[in-house]
Amino acid sequence: MNGDDLVRLIFLLCLIVSPIVATAANNNDGKVEIIAHRGASGHAPEHTMEAYQLALEQGTDYLELDLQMTKDQKLVAIHDDRVNRTTNGRGKVNSLTLAEIKQLDAGSWFNQKFPEKAKPYYNGLSIPTVDEVFRAFGTSMNYYIEIKKLQPFPEMADELLKVLRSYQLIGTQAEKGKVVIESFHPETLKYLRRKAPELVLIQLGEKPAKMNLSEISGYADGVGPNYLNMNKQFVKTAHLHGLIVHCWTVNNETDMIKLINWNVDGIFTNYVDRARKHVGALQ
Ligand code: G3P
Ligand code: CA
Repeated sequence: MNGDDLVRLIFLLCLIVSPIVATAANNNDGKVEIIAHRGASGHAPEHTMEAYQLALEQGTDYLELDLQMTKDQKLVAIHDDRVNRTTNGRGKVNSLTLAEIKQLDAGSWFNQKFPEKAKPYYNGLSIPTVDEVFRAFGTSMNYYIEIKKLQPFPEMADELLKVLRSYQLIGTQAEKGKVVIESFHPETLKYLRRKAPELVLIQLGEKPAKMNLSEISGYADGVGPNYLNMNKQFVKTAHLHGLIVHCWTVNNETDMIKLINWNVDGIFTNYVDRARKHVGALQ
């Protein structure tokens, strides 16, 4: 065998072995869902229509929305219970009316904080209502909605169900998994299980080791742990309890690859573009 033959042989071996290596790297039976955490919030102001639109363009499976309720009981997408961090206003969301909330600029802070990512059209963006999000993205998008612990209970859950039904995102016509509800608050999830059994429910947790998986499997479909506190064994144990595992918030590509290889079922990320490279490659 001369030198050229040897090179050809090595090349052929690489062609044969590479798919085996790629397959062995990941054992997921199903899909790894990409959940756009507060939209494409690594690139655009979180929880704005621009951030959601960009997440869609980057190939997200779900748009994540954190909900708060205004003084006049409208549901808006904003993470904090105050508007201070992500707008030019001050005060608690539940002490402001929707009309007052709509006056606020939810984009300029991002341009000031991240000048390298700034876009002139981010200035003046508003906090969206859930209505606006569902109207814009409709039933072709999937939604991953968080009801925070410090909420009016059960008013917020009831209002959300009303809006979801009005857009046919839940109910007999809706596809299972179109809407996932996540919460740190077990009572909210238990309430939703009774009121809308078709919803997929995820129990969030900061410390996976403290999550009672047997109990959670009685009222939820999965767990949403902070991946920084999670190990591979937790994923296996959760799966043995029949629970899916969607972990947050994974922005580093090395971590994404590691978690995909641990067989997680979904990852929350501010960088859908980064996740999409690896989810597509490893599945
Ligand atoms: O929503 C999952 C996880 O991201 C919870 O944390 O604070 O970003 O809503 P937070
Ligand atoms: Ca959240």
